Amino acid sequence: MIVTIVGAQLGDEGKGGIVDAFGAAADIVVRYQGGDNAGHTVVHDGEEYKLSLVPSGAVRDKINVLGNGCVVNPATLFDEIDALRERGLDPDVRVSERAHVIFPYHRLFDGIEEEAKESLAAGTTKRGIGPTYEDKAARRGVRVGDLIAPETLRERLSYVVEQKRDIAASVYGIDPGDALDFDAVLAEYEGYAARLQEEEMVVDGGAFLERHLADGADLMFEGAQGTSLDIDHGIYPYVTSSNSSAGGACTGTGLGPTIVGSGEVIGIVKGYLSRVGTGPLPTELGGVEGHTPGYVENEGEHEELASYIRDEGGEYGTVTGRARRVGWLDMPMLRHAARVNGFTGVVVNHLDVLAGLDEVKVGHTYELDGADQPTMPPTTERWGECEPVYRTFDGWPAVDWDSVAREGYEALPEGAKTYVSYIAEELGVEVFAVGVGPSRDHTVIRKHPFEDA
Ligand code: GDP
Ligand code: IMO
Ligand code: MG
Repeated sequence: MIVTIVGAQLGDEGKGGIVDAFGAAADIVVRYQGGDNAGHTVVHDGEEYKLSLVPSGAVRDKINVLGNGCVVNPATLFDEIDALRERGLDPDVRVSERAHVIFPYHRLFDGIEEEAKESLAAGTTKRGIGPTYEDKAARRGVRVGDLIAPETLRERLSYVVEQKRDIAASVYGIDPGDALDFDAVLAEYEGYAARLQEEEMVVDGGAFLERHLADGADLMFEGAQGTSLDIDHGIYPYVTSSNSSAGGACTGTGLGPTIVGSGEVIGIVKGYLSRVGTGPLPTELGGVEGHTPGYVENEGEHEELASYIRDEGGEYGTVTGRARRVGWLDMPMLRHAARVNGFTGVVVNHLDVLAGLDEVKVGHTYELDGADQPTMPPTTERWGECEPVYRTFDGWPAVDWDSVAREGYEALPEGAKTYVSYIAEELGVEVFAVGVGPSRDHTVIRKHPFEDA
């Protein structure tokens, strides 16, 4: 059985927590795209784990695989594994030979290009994700299988480092520094290659998963980012550089669509919107300088409401402490996500964050050129012209969420149940769970995708 977990919006919907909540029943957790641009949180027993590259199954002693669709920064990978070991865990992480490797020059170029792009910048995480996928598509990338083959590594790097040095100097007029010092890069990465081999982490990803499936293993595919950040289906160009939607689970694991589609594809929905990055956001409340287009501090509408949701939801960057953009739920975005991913179900998280509001609004459709528009238009510029047509729901009170979580779905406040039913009915899918807090115990499971299959 395979369960694919996909972000339905703009990332940070609580995917890590859901992988963890359903994860007891899985044998293997697989990331199929992205790299250390992700930040997935698992909270259990008063412990909080923030994982950027290692799949969330690491917290539960599962086998964890970085599939061929991922881009892997070995420095982050080993830092994360070491940090987990220091906390008493012993993560079993395998890396697909076909996954691409992030080098220091990818990070360098991520930063340089973001600056050069000005208003077209996506507000990237500067982890080198875009430049690595760019090299992959241009057939000058280095894969994990090349990294562990010394001659191939040397040959590939000698071409690419030279090329990047030229670009850095002639296009951007910068001194490339250590990131483009061939000997330094080679020595550092030979070290990573040695460790990957010593710890027997390298696998032929698709074949590895196929073998385990044949032996009856249950697999969980952990999407990173979200559908509106998908390179094809997201708000281009303010997107990431991979297919975060369910199609990416096929190309990024090495198991075909009939295998992925034989299981559940579950969209993770945050009960409102949060956005780290630039570009339009029709249902935005308030704004954040530098990210909200044309924003002037304290002149945005509904600043107070935005601050309330931001504070209740902890919507501040984990590294920078910077405020995230927030907004009401955007139903056209979810209809788009349901089609793109073929959701069989959803999880609605963060219901506790919205508790205590008198009313909760949803952008039910958009008005565009005087017509009603039920889903996202294909260009982001047109999306920016959309005016949300709101539907208003009665709010629900803050209650003792621990006891709701213990009693189950029916114990949710009526207003919250109405809200969740609306989302599920609009998308024509089942509700697998809802989130009423950050920890494993705060996920109220209604239908378990493995156990109730
Ligand atoms: P991911 O990137 O989709 O895995 O999500 P993140 O971990 O980046 O962000 C989600 C944040 O919300 C984390 O701090 C979670 O612990 C937290 N969280 C997840 N679900 C809920 C929920 O239902 N309620 C509340 N209050 N917090 C939640
Ligand atoms: P998780 O998996 C939220 C955003 C960045 C930027 C754009 C491109 O935790 O949900 P990139 O570094 O990928 O080239 O940045 O995508 N972004 C995310 N936003 N959650 C994420 O991951 C994100 N990963 C990338 O802010 O706008
Ligand atoms: Mg995140």
